[in-house]
Amino acid sequence: MHKALNTPLTQALGCDYPVIQTAMGWVATSDLVSASVQAGAFGFLAAAVMNSEECEAEIKAIKSKTDKPFGVNIHAFQQDVDRIIDMCIDYDVAALSYGRGPSPKIVEKVKAAGLKCVPTIGASKHALKAVNMGADILVCQGQEGGGHTGYTPTWLLLAQVIDQNLGVPVVACGGFKDGRGLAAALTFGADGIAMGTRFMMTSDSPTPDATKAEYLGSEVTKIPVSTKLDGLPQRMVMNRILADLENSSKIGMLIRALQNGMKYKSQTGMSMTQTIKTAWGMASKTDMTLGQTMMAGNAPMIIQKAMVEGKPDEGVLPSGQVAGIIDDLPSCADLISGIVTNAETHLKRVGA
Ligand SMILES: Cc1cc2nc3c(=O)[nH]c(=O)nc-3n(C[C@H](O)[C@H](O)[C@H](O)COP(=O)(O)O)c2cc1C
Repeated sequence: MHKALNTPLTQALGCDYPVIQTAMGWVATSDLVSASVQAGAFGFLAAAVMNSEECEAEIKAIKSKTDKPFGVNIHAFQQDVDRIIDMCIDYDVAALSYGRGPSPKIVEKVKAAGLKCVPTIGASKHALKAVNMGADILVCQGQEGGGHTGYTPTWLLLAQVIDQNLGVPVVACGGFKDGRGLAAALTFGADGIAMGTRFMMTSDSPTPDATKAEYLGSEVTKIPVSTKLDGLPQRMVMNRILADLENSSKIGMLIRALQNGMKYKSQTGMSMTQTIKTAWGMASKTDMTLGQTMMAGNAPMIIQKAMVEGKPDEGVLPSGQVAGIIDDLPSCADLISGIVTNAETHLKRVGA
């Protein structure tokens, strides 16, 4: 292996190569995580969309398939978060990733138990704050990245964060898919790359075939950022559902949200009155309209239509722009070995 591939990131996480498979709701399940870590990357289980029982079953499933280290992704406000964190400690999980982090006290407890804290940031002003709150590694996601995303392009964000010399490994994220991207990131001063979309587009990911076909057919310029799904900027493949959301007026949004509320009532377990009350409470505390807050409550169901039920026309498809230049679905093993060989070729060429 080229010595440039042994970095502070691989040393901190105990993985073979400086490549992270990021958390993706309903995608980064035990199947994907075990395949990515077996291939030599470091994978995060998407536990932010799980309750503690589901998370425990998934951690056990990963452990039954591999003895390589892996991480768990959480959301500070999810139900059961304290139990999930205790579980990560009990099951000897190697790292915890998060966007909005848990309290400093919890970060301290997690670190004392030996887990690495790996927040994702989307703006340079969050880098120092994250390190002060205990981050051991910073994943910097540029705007071309998938799912919720920021406004700074990957290379600019990376430069801004590397130049702060914060003393922790810095990982480039957003728009990566191959070894030349890895070689470029390492040459730029990063310690590795993190990828979401590329790992979702593998034969090991649980995403249904019909939905994967939509990703394969997507175009770089037709994977925009929209705030219409849940009020936060989120990058998704343009399709009929997203186009309808984008074109909705405030009233249209409210009607759509009410229709969805009826449709997904059995899944959320909330009556229409409860839904409206909760949304009204949120709307009065934020800049969002009532329709937007109600839509936000339905967002998980709309995403699952595509990502779990395999009905891409009825749901939305979170995605990085990189999907537009991906045209295959390799296994994680083939993906990682290809990335390593390709990165070595580029590193040697530059070295020569
Ligand atoms: C289908 C999909 C689902 C995602 N779900 C989550 C999630 O639940 N939590 C999270 O922190 N990030 C989520 N993300 C963001 C990814 O973890 C990652 O940061 C992003 O995809 C990186 O950009 P890339 O796709 O260009 O590699 C998701 C991304 C995708 C494509």
